[in-house]
Amino acid sequence: MTSTPEQVRSVLSLAPVVPVVVLDSVAHAVPVARALVAGGVPVVELTLRTPVALDAIRAIASSVPEITVGAGTVTSPRQAEAAYDAGAQFLVSPGLTPALLAGMRETGLPFLPGTATVSEVLAALEAGCTELKFFPAEASGGAAYLRSIASVVPTARFCPTGGITAASAPAYLALDNVGCVGGSWLTPADALAAGDWDRVTRLAAAAAALG
Ligand code: 3PG
Repeated sequence: MTSTPEQVRSVLSLAPVVPVVVLDSVAHAVPVARALVAGGVPVVELTLRTPVALDAIRAIASSVPEITVGAGTVTSPRQAEAAYDAGAQFLVSPGLTPALLAGMRETGLPFLPGTATVSEVLAALEAGCTELKFFPAEASGGAAYLRSIASVVPTARFCPTGGITAASAPAYLALDNVGCVGGSWLTPADALAAGDWDRVTRLAAAAAALG
């Protein structure tokens, strides 16, 4: 089993902004997913940084079929397999090693490997990956950096993530080598803690309108 760049692109074309969500409570999973869908964002990346992440993916996959749910911060083949087993429909990693690439590929799911330097982009392209996460975007040079490398790696297309806000997203989305951006600003920790799903829907609607 292996996924194609077209399959990755079809996930990344669901919305101009892929919400990156860090959940501390599994009870928030389904309401967050529904709030994003209500705002016009039918895709969500749950980061595997908290103990509830896999259960949250499982809950969303079984209860909110309108959303495409993925796993983020995948850093080992074992995590890739666990995310697949939980029902994740795509995988995102912050970086790339040969073992991680093999583990993500083994799942058959579309996956987005993380890159930050030209050498990492070249390594990913050599491995057959053209759709790449650019991480951490703001700290690595931001939109100006991606514009600078476009002519030397013309086949690479990026989803920048890390430090991006509603204010900085348009500069990335204006680039030819950017398909979408990722960010956690649609699901602020205080909104999740307060159960303020309307606020998430409003932030999602504003992000959807960036497309
Ligand atoms: C990620 O996991 O892609 C980033 O940590 C999300 O970055 P942000 O929280 O700065 O948006």
